[in-house]
Amino acid sequence: VKAKLDAILKTEQAEYLDNLLPASDDLLAEMESYAAEHRVPIADREVARFLEITARAADAKLALECGMAIGYSVIHLLRGMSDDGRVITIDPSDEMISRASDYLTRAGLRERTQIEKGYALEVIPRLNETFDLLFIDAVKEEYRGYLDLALPKLRIGGVVICDNLLWGGQVAGEIRSDDQQASTEALREFNEYFINHPQLRGEVLAVGDGLGYAVKVA
Ligand SMILES: C[S@@+](CC[C@H](N)C(=O)[O-])C[C@H]1O[C@@H](n2cnc3c(N)ncnc32)[C@H](O)[C@@H]1O
Repeated sequence: VKAKLDAILKTEQAEYLDNLLPASDDLLAEMESYAAEHRVPIADREVARFLEITARAADAKLALECGMAIGYSVIHLLRGMSDDGRVITIDPSDEMISRASDYLTRAGLRERTQIEKGYALEVIPRLNETFDLLFIDAVKEEYRGYLDLALPKLRIGGVVICDNLLWGGQVAGEIRSDDQQASTEALREFNEYFINHPQLRGEVLAVGDGLGYAVKVA
């Protein structure tokens, strides 16, 4: 039995853990400021760090990302991988691709990143690679579609990570506005699907905005 239902997620604990994270380096700090200023939703620092840790722990050589934005998560994934590691990432936005290319070049990681311009539901079926890690972080209503398309391309033992599964508290609580209805309901359905998926062993971690974490078992 869990010792205490609210043992971890109190404001005090969350603030403490946030402050415990080492400061971002100059490039990441610049990206965080850019994202805040231009309202680009990039991964929380703890989520980004989790990506780096997991890429390294899984010895991932090739990762697939749905939803690149400015490349903040790509940089973390690649920093967790050995020098021959690569990321294939998908985003339809010219503006995001331009910003990400610039940051990735400055990070010395542009050559290890294959940027696919387009919609993940259309791009994933064209990819013939086998992946070690899948990171889902694009349109919330499409998470199940991304997973269904990408899972056959993930090796057994490969890792699936999905961001925002608690969607700012709305998934387990109240939906804040009409425009959040469809995404929240889709995530509620997705969480059930993800947790009970016969090919996955996974759970939702209390990291960031709720981080799905699973290993492909069959
Ligand atoms: C939450 S952001 C990604 C953040 C990034 N993974 C990070 O942590 O730094 C979502 C991104 O998905 C992109 N996007 C929107 N529709 C998409 C689609 N159908 N397929 C792939 N990406 C999409 C948006 O342009 C946006 O840049």
